[in-house]
Amino acid sequence: MSHLKAWRAAIVHCIADPKDVGVDAAYEYFDDGLLVIDGDKIHALGDAQKLLANLPHDLVIEHHPNAIITPGFIDTHIHYPQTDMIGSYGEQLLTWLNTYTFPEESKFSDKAHARDVADRFLKELLRNGTTTALVFGTVHKVSVDTFFEASQVHNLRMICGKVMMDRNAPDYLTDTPESSYQESKELIETWHNKGRLHYAITPRFAPTSSDEQLQLAGKLLSEYDDVYLHTHLSENKDECAWVQDLFPNSTNYLDVYDQHKLLSERSVFAHGIHLCDSEYHRLHETGSAISFCPTSNLFIGSGLFKLSKAEDHKVNVGLGTDVGGGTSFSMLQTMNEAYKVIQLQNENLSPIKSLYLSTLGGAKALRLEDKIGNLAVGSEADFIILDKKGTPLLESRLALSKNIEESLFVLMTIGDDRAIQATYSAGECVHRR
Ligand code: GUN
Ligand code: FE
Repeated sequence: MSHLKAWRAAIVHCIADPKDVGVDAAYEYFDDGLLVIDGDKIHALGDAQKLLANLPHDLVIEHHPNAIITPGFIDTHIHYPQTDMIGSYGEQLLTWLNTYTFPEESKFSDKAHARDVADRFLKELLRNGTTTALVFGTVHKVSVDTFFEASQVHNLRMICGKVMMDRNAPDYLTDTPESSYQESKELIETWHNKGRLHYAITPRFAPTSSDEQLQLAGKLLSEYDDVYLHTHLSENKDECAWVQDLFPNSTNYLDVYDQHKLLSERSVFAHGIHLCDSEYHRLHETGSAISFCPTSNLFIGSGLFKLSKAEDHKVNVGLGTDVGGGTSFSMLQTMNEAYKVIQLQNENLSPIKSLYLSTLGGAKALRLEDKIGNLAVGSEADFIILDKKGTPLLESRLALSKNIEESLFVLMTIGDDRAIQATYSAGECVHRR
């Protein structure tokens, strides 16, 4: 018996950024494709007829005539402790944090609560075809231990970190520079690069950290080769003005992080809406990435992300849901809103570019493109099966589609969790409808 497993369906994945090579050269599409895995890795990908000639005759094949296989989605910015406060009404960032977010996050000192939410959060990601995410915990160390324990159950490639926050937040939710340094260090020692897990040093955002705390975050980043730095940047105009008040010696918002040595190839900044040219330039120079979070930016009224500016400055960009500021766990729905944000600026976001941002682009932002992000031979077998008959409307609309680009665009406009037939992580099925 062969230990290989195979799926036969339409298959599409990105191999480059459309901005660098043009749309046509940025993806591979197999109308009658075959994806073959060997354990947790991809063994072969290509045209089914051609590949089958050289594969064992007893190969087990799952046939999916009404499906499209893509890589699993990568969500580059999300808060697991905000799962139960999604859809909180009527506030912009700073009042939204005080009214809804901080009280909700206080519940995560309780391990049982954290585990309940982490389990439901991960289930929701998998139902939506997301196999990797860069995730905020809360200020409580136990929130991160618990998240990683829950991720291990499904063997998911996940990145998480404890929030560092020592001012401008309720007393019940603050740490100190020293305790945040020490607890982050302990979490790194326990979890970083354990199986498929990675650690992100996570100062919430400049206003909730003192200079001393940001400095210790920079020290931690310098002490470990490949840990991440995950925070928020320039999301809301009142926030930006507040940062200028709090850090009068900084030339702009990003400069606060820069002065504390927090810019690196593994630094991911959520939002980056109100940036000046020198900030884009510094992000590029340091290899830092921005997570574009369209549902959140619209829902909390933050503003329109300038994707073309980021592209002009060659800044790495991934897509994020930012739940609970964001309004959907679905990366398909996040692509839908991304398209509209770009439309409002009289530009277009092609379906291949959207697919890129949600898969290989996200992997590159996280420096994981040698492991995940597409279906290249040797990559980890994180993939999803999209059901072209997931809803009656998808079925009738997709029947009229003329090519894969149109089909993808329809899926990312009217598709959601109902279009995710199955999700695989490291070759194992972790969700099936
Ligand atoms: N800025 C600081 N904290 C947060 C948060 O929890 N969500 C969002 N969207 N922005 C933030
Ligand atoms: Fe956020």
